[in-house]
Amino acid sequence: GAPVEVDISKLEPGQLIRVEWRGKPVWVISRTPKMLEEMKAHEGQLRDPASEEPQQLDSAKNPYRSKRPEIFVAVGICTHLGCSPSFLQGGFGEKVEGTEDGFFCPCHGSKFDMAGRVFQAVPAPLNLEIPPYTFIDDTTIIVG
Ligand code: FES
Repeated sequence: GAPVEVDISKLEPGQLIRVEWRGKPVWVISRTPKMLEEMKAHEGQLRDPASEEPQQLDSAKNPYRSKRPEIFVAVGICTHLGCSPSFLQGGFGEKVEGTEDGFFCPCHGSKFDMAGRVFQAVPAPLNLEIPPYTFIDDTTIIVG
């Protein structure tokens, strides 16, 4: 599949834009300072905190799982059986203690934080996949 160019110049903090790459939904999200802060509290609740699973790119192997802390790029497909998780803002707290924002898969209840890191005790075995991507300037990302 061809690489996809994403213009993030109008992406507001907290907003998600969705593009398609190789037939897969790819999310680009501008994480707020609050989201970045919340993620630190998840150590100890994560199934694969260091993203050591072999399918992960090196750029996914940091706590933010991204090239820039505030910009998160991920494949929006649950690693359990492939449903599309919902992006929950300010409503996740009911489903995961201590966190307000994240992704919830409606199919079997898997939960991921704002870095796409899977929480323990859910069916999904892996963190959300991070696609290859590069910033070609401050506001343009090439996925693929
Ligand atoms: Fe997402 Fe099963 S497909 S929890």
